[in-house]
Amino acid sequence: MAIIQTENLSYVYSEGTPFRKTAIDNINISIEEGEFVGIIGHTGSGKSTLVQHLNGLLKPTSGRVLFNGQDINSSKEFTRTVRFSVGLCFQYPEYQLFESTVYRDIAFGPKNMGLSEKEIEEHVLKAADFVGLKKEMLNKSPFDLSGGEKRRVAIAGVIAMEPKVLILDEPTAGLDPQGRDTISDMIDNYRISTGSTVIVVSHSMEDVAKNASKVLVMNRGKVEFFTGVKEVFSNYERLVEIGLNVPQITGIFIDLKSRGYDVRTDIYTVAEAKKELVRLFRERGALK
Ligand SMILES: Nc1ncnc2c1ncn2[C@@H]1O[C@H](COP(=O)(O)OP(=O)(O)OP(=O)(O)O)[C@@H](O)[C@H]1O
Ligand SMILES: [Mg+2]
Repeated sequence: MAIIQTENLSYVYSEGTPFRKTAIDNINISIEEGEFVGIIGHTGSGKSTLVQHLNGLLKPTSGRVLFNGQDINSSKEFTRTVRFSVGLCFQYPEYQLFESTVYRDIAFGPKNMGLSEKEIEEHVLKAADFVGLKKEMLNKSPFDLSGGEKRRVAIAGVIAMEPKVLILDEPTAGLDPQGRDTISDMIDNYRISTGSTVIVVSHSMEDVAKNASKVLVMNRGKVEFFTGVKEVFSNYERLVEIGLNVPQITGIFIDLKSRGYDVRTDIYTVAEAKKELVRLFRERGALK
């Protein structure tokens, strides 16, 4: 059974005013336990609005969101359970750090869950370790940290609730390449070692191609594609039409193919690219 499912899910901002805006329109998706779903789409396509429904932060204008088959808005108690089972880390979460120390910030979620001091400490230390924050950082003020470190504190705060489903909205936005790689590897490690379901909104096609098992492409509030990475990136022309792209390295291979070279176009990483080029050069006798 799907861990998360949406049925005809729609959401309208500012209903009944001249600013009325349908942000997501009739979304039907189903996410299985343990899957890693990448969500991509042009700015304003509804990605953040969609993920805020998955943990009950926004209530559907129409349609339903199910967690393990049950409507997450069916009762107050169930909505509360889902808040802790589906952990959502917002876009630019570092603006929401507010406690006096890193420790207290990470402990905020577990505290709300009603855990004992000892359990809270265990959760905090484990989560800090996951995101690579050193123990001595825990007593610092979050405001004394670098941008990348703040981001990691915010993510640790969600991980510390040990959610069954971890949702991250643009976790690498605005970070330098090294910060991006660190966070992207960390998320993948988290999924592998806990078996959790992970949903990541990302602008980086490279990150999506590297980590996701399925890709959800949003376009103007609707689902354009929701399928495997290869299937999605094979729709190169449609992706460009809706303002998206394929990973840079894939673009090079699509270009080579269009110039008459007999190469694969389902290449998403530098390692795959190297293998394919070596094969091509060997075939042409340019490499022994
Ligand atoms: N609080 C709000 N009030 C009114 N309209 C909103 C609000 N938040 C978002 N919208 C509108 O809803 C649509 C979807 O916005 P959303 O933030 O979900 O998109 P997004 O795909 O996450 O974009 P981005 O890539 O920029 O983060 C946009 O047209 C946006 O302007
Ligand atoms: Mg967004």
